[in-house]
Amino acid sequence: MANLLVLGTQWGDEGKGKIVDLLSPAFDVVARYQGGHNAGHTVCVRGKKIVLHLIPSGILHPGTLCVIGNGLVISPSAFFKETGDLEAQGIGVGPSRVAVSRGAHLIMPWHPLVERVSEERRGAKKIGTTCRGIGPAYEDKAARLGVRAGDLADLRVLREKIAENVAAKDPIFRAFGLPPLDAESICREYAGWAEKLGPYLRDVSELLHERMKRGESVLFEGAQGALLDVDHGTYPYVTSSSATAGGAATGLGVGPKTIHGVLGITKAYTTRVGSGPFPTELRDELGRTIAARGDEFGATTGRPRRCGWFDAVAVRYSCRINGVDRIALTKPDVLAGLGHIPVCTGYSYKGEILKSFPTEPWVLDEVVPEYRSLPGWPDSLHGAADFESLPRTFVDYIRVLEDLVETRVAVVSTGVERGETVLIESELRGFVDLARVRAGSAA
Ligand code: GDP
Ligand code: IMO
Ligand code: MG
Repeated sequence: MANLLVLGTQWGDEGKGKIVDLLSPAFDVVARYQGGHNAGHTVCVRGKKIVLHLIPSGILHPGTLCVIGNGLVISPSAFFKETGDLEAQGIGVGPSRVAVSRGAHLIMPWHPLVERVSEERRGAKKIGTTCRGIGPAYEDKAARLGVRAGDLADLRVLREKIAENVAAKDPIFRAFGLPPLDAESICREYAGWAEKLGPYLRDVSELLHERMKRGESVLFEGAQGALLDVDHGTYPYVTSSSATAGGAATGLGVGPKTIHGVLGITKAYTTRVGSGPFPTELRDELGRTIAARGDEFGATTGRPRRCGWFDAVAVRYSCRINGVDRIALTKPDVLAGLGHIPVCTGYSYKGEILKSFPTEPWVLDEVVPEYRSLPGWPDSLHGAADFESLPRTFVDYIRVLEDLVETRVAVVSTGVERGETVLIESELRGFVDLARVRAGSAA
């Protein structure tokens, strides 16, 4: 059976959690490949809202194995807080449901402290991170100083690595007037996590290989969004991991040919949390209205999300760098009743039309977006049973977006609930087994 990669095509919060949860029954395994508990993936089922951070969004389906790849950075305390909260809601999250790669890096107590210093030092140029220690954990990974989940298996190795890190960080802490790190208490804390996390730890690459050999299918789950990717995003206003499609292969130890299709999750407008360029941002009352209607507050930090019009230049770029086969369009219901809806079709920069999306913030800050105004749809889209029952003007909106981003829409999400989704069978054929989706989401 085919494997599918699901990722965000904008600056995160496109509704990946909702779509991954919905499609999970068609897959045997759901595997996250990057990021950490900076992610906030919301799933709403029959009025119950669950926000996932580290645990893959397939966890609500008891038959699905959830995998956390080597490409993630894991805070053990965040992991057990989340599993505890899920258990309290009757969702099983033991080692038979969740596997964690021994190659994943651990977020250590010094990481959020180092991040605070680095954000303060940037002043007005701060990234506006989630302050979870994500960036510094990836920095240590690249610096070859990182502590990996697999190191928990040998307390001597763990102790040595902690000592090496404390020695490296001490001068920084001293320079910024922070109290010194206590290596001994950190060792004690992580020895405790070693015991708890041990049963979850696996060779994830081998596990996935064996499962696929047996004929099982995998849904690869991205966090953040392509424009937050450390290589292809609006650097330096990005996260520190590879959120784009290539990250799935390195972040799980699978070959690129195991990815048979790519579904890009795309919001019908644009949002961004934290700092960084945003050409179509609405800094006025309308922006705030969209934020209020779309409930655009960070699922992780609660920060208000900046809102703006759909940016076809950015999404077309995203579709290209990720090889997106189909789009799942989310949250168009939020735009209902707004009258005419502008869509950004191009950028001009210093009087010239740009051919493609520039990732440099100093260019993006100065581009002038060109808009095409499209007729809106007055009525709510909630509860639309099928594609045929969607308003004519909204279908026209979809067609214009498809032309602009050169990719077909295969899923239309019309509300927060799992069931508020229109699946376009002809566009999903070959990518998702819809009979399994329907059987699973009714369960
Ligand atoms: P993710 O990070 O990509 O998983 O997205 P988030 O969960 O952070 O943010 C998406 C928000 O939009 C969540 O509150 C979802 O419940 C909500 N949502 C998802 N799809 C739709 C939709 O089609 N319509 C509306 N109104 N809300 C949606
Ligand atoms: P999901 O998976 C939206 C943003 C932060 C900040 C930048 C770097 O829910 O879509 P970090 O803490 O990662 O070093 O912050 O990236 N950011 C997100 N924005 N959705 C997310 O995740 C995000 N994860 C990180 O706001 O601008
Ligand atoms: Mg989110």
